[in-house]
Amino acid sequence: MSESTVQEGRRFPAPEELTAQANVGPDVYAEAERDRLAFWEKAARRLSWAQEWDQVLDWSNPPFAKWFVGGKLNIAYNCVDRHVEDGHGEQVAYHWEGEPGDTRTITYAQLKDEVCKAANALLELGVQAGDRVAIYMPMIPEAVVAMLACARIGAVHMVVFGGFSADALASRITDSGAVAVVTADGGYRRGAPSALKPAVDDAVSRTESVRNVLVVRRTEQDVEWTEGRDLWWHDVVDRQSTEHTPEAFDAEHPLYIMYTSGTTAKPKGILHTSGGYLTQVAYSHWATFDLKPDTDVFWTSADIGWVTGHSYIVYGPLANRATSIMYEGTPETPHRGRWFEIIEKYRVTILYTAPTVIRTFMKWGEDIPAKFDLSSLRVLGSVGEPINPEAWLWYHQNIGGGRCPIVDTWWQTETGAHMINPLPGVTDLKPGSAQTPFPGISAKVVDDEGNELGDDTTGLLVLTEPWPSMLRTIWGDDDRYVDTYWSRFGKEVYFAGDGAKKDADGDVWLLGRVDDVMNVSGHRISTTEVESSLVAHPTVAEAAVVGASDPTTGQGIVAFVILRGNAEDSGDELVQQLRTHVARDIGPIAKPRQIMVVQELPKTRSGKIMRRLLRDIAENRELGDVTTLTDSSVMNLIKDKLPASS
Ligand code: WTA
Repeated sequence: MSESTVQEGRRFPAPEELTAQANVGPDVYAEAERDRLAFWEKAARRLSWAQEWDQVLDWSNPPFAKWFVGGKLNIAYNCVDRHVEDGHGEQVAYHWEGEPGDTRTITYAQLKDEVCKAANALLELGVQAGDRVAIYMPMIPEAVVAMLACARIGAVHMVVFGGFSADALASRITDSGAVAVVTADGGYRRGAPSALKPAVDDAVSRTESVRNVLVVRRTEQDVEWTEGRDLWWHDVVDRQSTEHTPEAFDAEHPLYIMYTSGTTAKPKGILHTSGGYLTQVAYSHWATFDLKPDTDVFWTSADIGWVTGHSYIVYGPLANRATSIMYEGTPETPHRGRWFEIIEKYRVTILYTAPTVIRTFMKWGEDIPAKFDLSSLRVLGSVGEPINPEAWLWYHQNIGGGRCPIVDTWWQTETGAHMINPLPGVTDLKPGSAQTPFPGISAKVVDDEGNELGDDTTGLLVLTEPWPSMLRTIWGDDDRYVDTYWSRFGKEVYFAGDGAKKDADGDVWLLGRVDDVMNVSGHRISTTEVESSLVAHPTVAEAAVVGASDPTTGQGIVAFVILRGNAEDSGDELVQQLRTHVARDIGPIAKPRQIMVVQELPKTRSGKIMRRLLRDIAENRELGDVTTLTDSSVMNLIKDKLPASS
């Protein structure tokens, strides 16, 4: 958490032009307050239902919620077909920009044809409603098509971020029992083709459930081929009919599983279902960004391998008939103005990105965005970690030209959609605060006993009412679902895992995770996951990992390792080896920024590693209270080992 989050006192009122035509006005809060369920019911009516629900919410068995009970709908029909039927088939759904500069424009009519063909192909491969399908793809349109094709036939997609390792993919395939994998030969990253198929081959060889691997040709890299199992997308999908009649599924039919890091080494398969999820992502996308389908060009810069991509590249925008940008590559390829060039080229009106990206742009300098015409922008968004006021002001000034409201959106993989954020035509903005629980959402800050706090007192963030896009369980592990989220304050209070406080105006300030989850460049990584990877290396006896604040990435991963008796401390070489080992094991995003070889780790008398002290060291702070340590001299030993610079 950054101290500076509390220092910026300026307020930024909603721009008048925006307020005058905003999708939602200030009354929305009172409306939702008067009757929360009626409010969500109205939001659900923005979708097309094959069968109306009998009950808005069934919360008779908390924390297992059912929303829109008895309702039936098809998610893909809502995202694609109905817009074509309404005469918008020629509207662009995606302006896709490949990293090398190749482009594709996909209209809603074309998207409908592609989704139908892919749905027919999955059916031909024997994929049935309820089956899980793994998707391990670069940022190409087929990734969206594959997701929607699954949704269309009632299969449950499980997208794994393309930057994750074969190991990570294998464990997710096994846990979910996926019957097929959709992938590509590779994608373009940092100016070069980056292979994906080898990781799939490796992962699938270690799993039992996968029957087929469907491969999109993107980079034309050479790939290994397993006859009978592997199929080219262009062979199987292209020849299918563009006709497919969507079947209506129950509102609670599973839509997708998304794995996220928790406090143990085993990632949790967060399960989202259909009707409530689409209701809230669609409504929040429309309200938070003031989305105008006829005129806006919307861009979420995330990867579809994360929940932000699911909710705000795919489901929310498509349900609202938005025109979106989809970009395959990195911001600095082939030059550091690439994003701004895209904004200028497509006249992007709404940009949704992460603080870590803004801080990187800050480092590169304001003369880069200044070279481009960014005057089309009207609303900016932020997600993934608290946005520090310096970055907020820079974003506001240098990208938003001082005229665009910034909506800082707090939410999680588990929440599915925005939960705490300002509304652009309503809220007086406070840089650094996510401010207001979304209409229909009840968020509180409480102490350890669950008593509500106010007046800038730091506590824990909880959600006190169920919401439509909430996770329904952890795949295959109801007990872990209850234990992780719904036991600290009873079965009806959701414990988010974030520290927070409310100021005198009632605005919420998020203060980072209170558990062993790190936030690196907006990505959640568990300390225990990195620790288990390190101790799996033959040289390491014990490891402790902490997230230390980092000026660009929010937090950086710092590891302390004790070597095995027979292992030789080869200094830098060993450290590099260990860093590479973790990157290969989990994925490059989990590569420690720093690894320190130490003789001892600070532990409490009950044997728990005192991460707080290690964090003090990693952040160069004076050591905090060491009285509960078994042996306080270990801290001196550790400090003596540190390089002068840290
Ligand atoms: C953090 C990403 C402060 C928080 C959508 C949360 C934020 C975790 C914000 C979820 C924000 C996300 N302000 N913190 N605007 N947005 N977080 O599951 O710690 O990848 O618990 O979902 O990111 O990360 P996840």
